[in-house]
Amino acid sequence: MAQEDVFKKIVSHCKEYGFVFPSSDIYDGLAAVYDYGQNGVELKNNIKQYWWQSMVLLHSNIVGIDASIFMHPTVWKASGHVDAFNDPLIDNRDSKKRYRADNLIEDQIGKYEEKIAKEVAKAAKKFGDAFDEAKFRETNPRVLENQKKRDDLHARYTEAMQGPDLEALKQIILDEGIVDPISGTTNWTDVRQFNLMFSTEVGASADATNKIYLRPETAQGIFVNFLNVQKTGRMKLPFGICQIGKAFRNEIVARQFVFRMREFEQMEMQFFCQPGTEMTWFDYWKKHRLAWHEALGMGDDNYRFHDHEKLAHYANAATDIEFHMPFGFKEVEGIHSRTNYDLSQHEKYSGRQVKYFDPERNENYTPFVVETSIGVDRMFLSVMCHSYTEEALENGSSRVVLKLPEPLAPVKCAVLPLVNKDGLPEKAQEIVNNLKFHFNTHMEAKDSIGKRYRRQDAIGTPFCVTVDGDTLKDNTVTLRYRDSMKQERVPVEKLREIIEDRVSITSLLKKIDID
Ligand code: GAP
Repeated sequence: MAQEDVFKKIVSHCKEYGFVFPSSDIYDGLAAVYDYGQNGVELKNNIKQYWWQSMVLLHSNIVGIDASIFMHPTVWKASGHVDAFNDPLIDNRDSKKRYRADNLIEDQIGKYEEKIAKEVAKAAKKFGDAFDEAKFRETNPRVLENQKKRDDLHARYTEAMQGPDLEALKQIILDEGIVDPISGTTNWTDVRQFNLMFSTEVGASADATNKIYLRPETAQGIFVNFLNVQKTGRMKLPFGICQIGKAFRNEIVARQFVFRMREFEQMEMQFFCQPGTEMTWFDYWKKHRLAWHEALGMGDDNYRFHDHEKLAHYANAATDIEFHMPFGFKEVEGIHSRTNYDLSQHEKYSGRQVKYFDPERNENYTPFVVETSIGVDRMFLSVMCHSYTEEALENGSSRVVLKLPEPLAPVKCAVLPLVNKDGLPEKAQEIVNNLKFHFNTHMEAKDSIGKRYRRQDAIGTPFCVTVDGDTLKDNTVTLRYRDSMKQERVPVEKLREIIEDRVSITSLLKKIDID
């Protein structure tokens, strides 16, 4: 099945099974804004809990905060967002559609890469075990031609984005003959900058002086609280402050479901360290964050680092952790060495000294910062994409199963009375009442047992417990495993022991405790 079709199926599965709904659905939705349903919110909360605990439980020198969404407007002047948080936009005069110029060019680069990948795959199939990929890439004329086109385009694009040079971006689009996917024409307007921040007014008057912004990142809430936390927590360098919260960006080209939203959620951590130690910490956080992802067991090959070639003017290193989505490797998380830029800017704009007194060196200085920043929604999407599976069964039927990492599953255990009578629902409820204190346990009594198994598979419940007539006699139940569909008879009193460890966030944390 084409990857595009798989993605469409995932989007409709999310709606059908209460994971994600379009916002204001009965009014036909609001573009690039989504609501999480009863199962989606549980999965999202589990992701957040896993991240939060990996920060504050595994690191005694990391604490959390919860800063507000509205901040003093000067914060965004100091951070550079008012002047430079822009996307280069271009319109097609025929379709009247608006695009990000950088995305159009990146897609074109991707097309050359795809052509190369296709040639390589074709040759690999033809030559089998004897295939020498490196040699093929070095010598095949079609690969070499596309590689040159890709590299030349990439070099021009990187240079044009440095300024950014808007005329150069447009020229690239014209030279490459990039057409609007809707109108099919190259009738493009000039490229212009568009600021991504949403603004509103505080108080009764709509005066320009009352203009405030909805935060486009949570990070600034951490920077402006650096002194508060450092002093009240008596924190010593190196230390980190983390936060989970909503962020807002007026994304022009909002696409790919919850991948690019106008209202989304970030999990960010700013790690403050001595100047000169930032690269050590940058490497540490790269390793730690990758281990966090890999502990979920979604395939180590599905992750890769993508180092930024074009660094923001304040950064001295930056990389993305990308995940293999159905629409290619895409950024899920950014790790940035932000130098002392943000704290210095806030010192300049606030007129307050934003420094750290180092008792060992007996001096004041501005700490350097390494940031880890991951989007909750993108993480949610990567988990959904990886877990969604359509399986043909031996009996000729099929099932859709969400093979979610067990600790992230919305419901960990479903207790199902075989029939909705004869004392079985009461026994099932008794089992739920014991297990519910330890993990999310639901009872479901309606429909045939087969249908109930399918429903639980579709929401990713790792364990189903079936209560039948024998349960009343010998206090045993049938335990069914989601992925293997294996069933075994176990005593009721063993259920907690079998399930609890596998579904706990702690089991994940133990895998990433790499210090
Ligand atoms: N404080 C740094 C920062 O905000 P970013 O690369 O702009 O860096 C970090 O964003 C992460 O936030 C991204 O890796 C992505 O997961 C998430 N993110 C950014 N824009 C998003 C959007 N429009 N919709 C969903 N997630 C987004």
